Amino acid sequence: MVNRLKADLIETSRFGRTPPKRTEGYDQLDPEKGVTRPTGTEENKQIRDFAVSRMKEIGLEVKIDKVGNIFGRKEGSKRNKGTVMFGSHLDSVINGGMFDGALGVFGAIEAVRRMNDEGFENKRPLEIVVFTGEEGSAFIPSLLGSSVLAGKLSVDEALSKKNAMGQTLGKALEYIGYKGSLERGLDDVEYFAEMHIEQGPILDKEGIPVGIVENITGIIWIPLTILGQENHAGTTPMRMRKDALVAASDIISFVNKRANEMVEKLGSSTVGTVGRLNVFPNGINIVPGKVEMGIDIRDVAPQNMESLKNEALKAIKDIENKYGVDIRTELPFRHIPTVLSSEVVSVIDNSASQVDIMTKRMNSGAGHDSQNMAGKVKAGMIFVPSVNGISHAPLEWTNWEDIEKGVQVLTQTLKNLSQLN
Ligand code: GLV
Ligand code: MN
Ligand code: MN
Repeated sequence: MVNRLKADLIETSRFGRTPPKRTEGYDQLDPEKGVTRPTGTEENKQIRDFAVSRMKEIGLEVKIDKVGNIFGRKEGSKRNKGTVMFGSHLDSVINGGMFDGALGVFGAIEAVRRMNDEGFENKRPLEIVVFTGEEGSAFIPSLLGSSVLAGKLSVDEALSKKNAMGQTLGKALEYIGYKGSLERGLDDVEYFAEMHIEQGPILDKEGIPVGIVENITGIIWIPLTILGQENHAGTTPMRMRKDALVAASDIISFVNKRANEMVEKLGSSTVGTVGRLNVFPNGINIVPGKVEMGIDIRDVAPQNMESLKNEALKAIKDIENKYGVDIRTELPFRHIPTVLSSEVVSVIDNSASQVDIMTKRMNSGAGHDSQNMAGKVKAGMIFVPSVNGISHAPLEWTNWEDIEKGVQVLTQTLKNLSQLN
């Protein structure tokens, strides 16, 4: 019965897509038109409203906390036992895919429907969570809602974060009607599970339908601004320029070259990316005077992340001197690499065997709210394949058969966790 989940995902695939087209298969994807529903936008509200209505339909008690995290709870027969929480996020990157986050939320709803249909009686309470601002595409830091839930970021700090328009998270949540009053922590929660697309090529390449995540990558972001001298492209002699974009290109090359070297020499899983670049004033006949950019560094080994970060900061100093520009780096922001719960990993493993689905243990190169949850409760993740390993892009896709397998493993996992003494 994947059809209800499929219908929900197809229904929500239009939110944040221009034009708002329902997408049912890979052939219908437009490589230029993904979904854009950052936290606090009308499109983010649309998909949140849809999820809330689905949760209410199946009898869940829905509550919203002060930073817009949504909870849908089903009490268990043993109320005093630690809650099993599960879910994901509904915000997206700019021009991303329809499954990142949404699969974990609507998959969680489908899992509860299946348990209800079977008349399954959970002992531990079951609670779906939809996290605010996982992507960091509107409000930095990423994993914002789970950072507050896990007590790593205060409510006030979170609500004062601003998006590119200067709007605070508090105002944005008020605007979409998701600034709730619930104050929720994790003291009563014992387990957390998140189903998600892999967002990388491994499961697809190996033809394995379900991945069980053991480690989640660490992430360092270094936002920086390069200040040069804006000037006439025709009259400014080459040796008299302070070209901010040329300096930026050296930084981009350095990060890429050094990450490649680390992979080759250390056999590490290091990745380094510059994915954000704003050039000012961005005119063909003007020497660029200012560039804003962001460096993203990841590895499951913290020492590799730190060493690439330190080398990048040193290279930035050298590049500053070489081009006579002024480079202002903001304080690097990091999520530490995370080991997920071996207990939950083995519950997922056993659950997959019960429903006869092949799995593979693996690491996640993408960040997830599970890493914040893992700091407080026993957390695990279930991955399903991403076709051609593509994600954070319009061609992100997961086959419906794999989604069915993922939700079977999730449902069985939740049943097993909820019955633990
Ligand atoms: C979030 O999806 C990230 O990995 O940046
Ligand atoms: Mn995600
Ligand atoms: Mn993502």
